[in-house]
Amino acid sequence: MSKILIRGAKVLGGEPQDVLVDGGTVEAVGTGLDAAGARVVEAGGQILLPGLVDLHTHLREPGREDSETVLTGTRAAAAGGYTAVHAMANTFPVADTAGVVEQVWRLGRESGYCDVQPVGAVTVGLEGKQLAELGAMHDSAASVRVFSDDGKCVDDAVIMRRALEYVKAFDGVIAQHAQEPRLTEGAQMNEGTVSAELGLGGWPAVAEESIIARDVLLAAHVGSRVHICHLSTAGSVEIVRWAKSKGWNVTAEVTPHHLLLTDELVRSYDPVYKVNPPLRTEADVTALREALADGTIDCVATDHAPHPHEDKDCEWGAAAMGMVGLETALSVVQHTMVETGLLDWAGVADRMSFRPAAIGRLAGHGRPISAGEPANLVLVDPSYRGAVDSARFASRSRNTPYQGRELPGRVTHTFLRGRATVMDGELA
Ligand code: DOR
Ligand code: ZN
Repeated sequence: MSKILIRGAKVLGGEPQDVLVDGGTVEAVGTGLDAAGARVVEAGGQILLPGLVDLHTHLREPGREDSETVLTGTRAAAAGGYTAVHAMANTFPVADTAGVVEQVWRLGRESGYCDVQPVGAVTVGLEGKQLAELGAMHDSAASVRVFSDDGKCVDDAVIMRRALEYVKAFDGVIAQHAQEPRLTEGAQMNEGTVSAELGLGGWPAVAEESIIARDVLLAAHVGSRVHICHLSTAGSVEIVRWAKSKGWNVTAEVTPHHLLLTDELVRSYDPVYKVNPPLRTEADVTALREALADGTIDCVATDHAPHPHEDKDCEWGAAAMGMVGLETALSVVQHTMVETGLLDWAGVADRMSFRPAAIGRLAGHGRPISAGEPANLVLVDPSYRGAVDSARFASRSRNTPYQGRELPGRVTHTFLRGRATVMDGELA
């Protein structure tokens, strides 16, 4: 049965409407639509959004299948309401050749839970020395358009310039992990009063901001597109705001955790809070929320970074950086942005679907919910309240900072081209 009638959903948070899905497509949107021959999903009170799109997901395959695979990661994505994710290149081997990106792309097609768009490395082996085969990755079956050395910064200004110039030919974008390496040697957390009190090596805001400043200037100079990964400081917001005011082709993302958590949590020495870039201050959190609300920051990206427990359940200094995020992202955004009045649900659709899809030039995702459009959809129950239980995650990893914390909202249904990947809150 391929016909589905979603009845009485608040489309983008508006007035309740019915949405009829047939095959992979939205057939009709209206009131009192005929349910004949269709499976009915009663959606009263729920919000219908376009399927979420993540620009920044670590799926770990190939090479670290003990923490995540394309299959487990796409199941986690579907559970979180995503219909497309961009898979970061810091795998083993690194996704720096057409062969590796095609492998990841194929695994994504086989999963069936969520589309996987591979990100290609900017430099060979993420070593920052020599450009990877950007053109071959773009020309491959994976059609790579987003390139990133994420986890590492492309710190050589000439390499960054050449990469920006190179991807212009096919409207690609360089997604920069902005971290000046010399300024962050031995850094363990945000540089500030908490790091001083704890005696942990500090990670100054300027390490991020100086790279962002350089890269928006470089992008403007060569007339190319740069995307800034996981902005984490108030100063970074100011630089991006300035670059956008110049009309430069600069976009930026923020993670859910940087919208909610601060470096005060590091006082617990619990490595679940160890992440790159580090958790910052309350003032940074406020600036990031405001920037996401006013559009200076284009989108939310999870930086879903699964790690096996032996890499996280250890002392702070030895622990791996990163946290899982796909299955809690929407709830954190509801909590920090919707329930604070900073964004409405149409704004959530924009920041978590329309804009990330546009930045990745992803066809078929981030589309309006109207007749003739691909039926990539997520239905959310915003009234739900419940504690996060990582034992129920579809992800292979459990390194969430929200274990036991009450967060609002729950994904009840996700549809990938009209097929339910999540039904009544359970993976299909
Ligand atoms: O916390 C992080 N973890 N930040 C990154 O940039 C990389 C990621 C990872 O791959 O674990
Ligand atoms: Zn990163």
